[in-house]
Amino acid sequence: MVDNNWGKRIIYQIYPRSFKDSNGDGIGDLNGIAEKLDYLKDLGVDALWLSPIYRSPMRDFGYDISDYYDIDPIFGNLSDFDSLIRKAHDKDMKVLMDFVPNHTSFEHPWFKESRYSKDNPKRDWYIWKPPKKNGAAPNNWLSQFGGPAWELDKETGEYYLHTFDVSQPDLNWRNPQVVEEISNVMRYWMKKGVDGFRVDVAYYLFKDPFFRDEPHNPSHTEHHIQYDSLLHIYTIALPETLNMLKKLNSVINEFDDRFMVCEIYTFLHEIVNLYRIVGHQSFAPFNFSFISLPWNAQEQKKFIDEFDERVGHDYFPTYVLGNHDQPRIATKLGEDFARTAALLQLTLRGMPFIYYGEELGMKNVKVPEEKAMDPMATNMKGFDFGRDPERTPMQWDASRFGGFSNVEPWLPLEQEFKERNVASEKEDKKSFLNLYKSVINLRKTRKSLAGGKLVPLDFKNPNVLGFFRQEADEETLVLANFSEEKQVVELPKGDWKTVLSTKLDVENRKEKDQLNLRPSEGMILCS
Ligand code: GLC
Repeated sequence: MVDNNWGKRIIYQIYPRSFKDSNGDGIGDLNGIAEKLDYLKDLGVDALWLSPIYRSPMRDFGYDISDYYDIDPIFGNLSDFDSLIRKAHDKDMKVLMDFVPNHTSFEHPWFKESRYSKDNPKRDWYIWKPPKKNGAAPNNWLSQFGGPAWELDKETGEYYLHTFDVSQPDLNWRNPQVVEEISNVMRYWMKKGVDGFRVDVAYYLFKDPFFRDEPHNPSHTEHHIQYDSLLHIYTIALPETLNMLKKLNSVINEFDDRFMVCEIYTFLHEIVNLYRIVGHQSFAPFNFSFISLPWNAQEQKKFIDEFDERVGHDYFPTYVLGNHDQPRIATKLGEDFARTAALLQLTLRGMPFIYYGEELGMKNVKVPEEKAMDPMATNMKGFDFGRDPERTPMQWDASRFGGFSNVEPWLPLEQEFKERNVASEKEDKKSFLNLYKSVINLRKTRKSLAGGKLVPLDFKNPNVLGFFRQEADEETLVLANFSEEKQVVELPKGDWKTVLSTKLDVENRKEKDQLNLRPSEGMILCS
């Protein structure tokens, strides 16, 4: 097995607007994050991923960049950033930045130039097409944020492409100058000490050069977003995109010990394929199987066993329970199953990505329509597509604004924060936070959990998922009950001791041949 530290690291995603406000404007910032590094270190986090902090008009909260080389004043400035990196590195924590190569803001100077005239040198940096003869958009492509993906620009009478909001024009990755400039942006931040990137919508970079209409998706219903009414065969996962990811990864590899993880929602065989195409340990695609597959022991087991085997030991899997685009796991599964999901995520081989607040069991917060901020909510009113509920302020303590800020935060808190917060969970021996800490601690102290191979296990019981982790002569057994009933399992041969339950009420209990798992319970056993 090749030794690669990234494969063992625990990554923590911070949504900077919502983590900690240090300057009393109701919005989180870089100095706020710096204040909380001790908390993150104590939790056992090895690397931070910061959602975008670049200069931006914030129509999509930073995923619409107007200057790739600067920090938005809402979050601080370049020297605050340098100091955050320094402090994190002093504590032996890496820092990944979010990186948005598919599109910029329409306020980016490149786009302002591009839209100015058809012969502007920056015209071809974006994707422009003349209208059809009847004035209609060039084809049927749709925007993820509702409506067509094309916007007619009065200035020159042509349409520009925007896969997301109208304020987020897509860059033209077929233009070598774009490739060069974006590569330089990566180099700029890596020279500043950034340890790598989470690449936003990495599967979208290239679009069909013939701009063909996309076919209708027969399984679409009115409850799904309009974007899903088409099959995106001409805008997603083009071979040129896959090759470009390899090329961007080679920029990463100009520097030592850097890493890039790509946001790609796709199927098992394609995720595995990506490892092969990019072919380097400084790269991994996200695996969203805990989000996309039903909470069912058989389906999850089938995926995990096959995925782990096919990724193989030269590379490492990733596991995600949530992020700033997905409903929180504790809301989706309920608290008990969310604990078991966390246990699995932290004990499987590879990199777990923890979304801030997951370690507290934070839930979605209801955000009334009139307070909605997210363009997914404001562009598509009447549906429940908004992502604000999973982006609410981190719950630090029981004070008026949850210890996040001393003024009204940009998104609301719900009363539950009075009990569910860092300060009170530290004191409660059975809290979510203490579950995370205990499992992470085991992961760091047991070599089988840190880097050992995963050995699938077959139980006669279809409600239980289990596996061994194995390194040299050390073995760890992980079991998870996916049902709301008690389950009995036959233990594999060995002298087993239960060292942890997701209920946090058993320790060092000797087990015989059978084990009773309580409803939704997860357990770690050592031999
Ligand atoms: C990604 C981000 C999402 C953003 C979109 C457009 O999916 O995670 O938050 O809105 O890209 O950049």
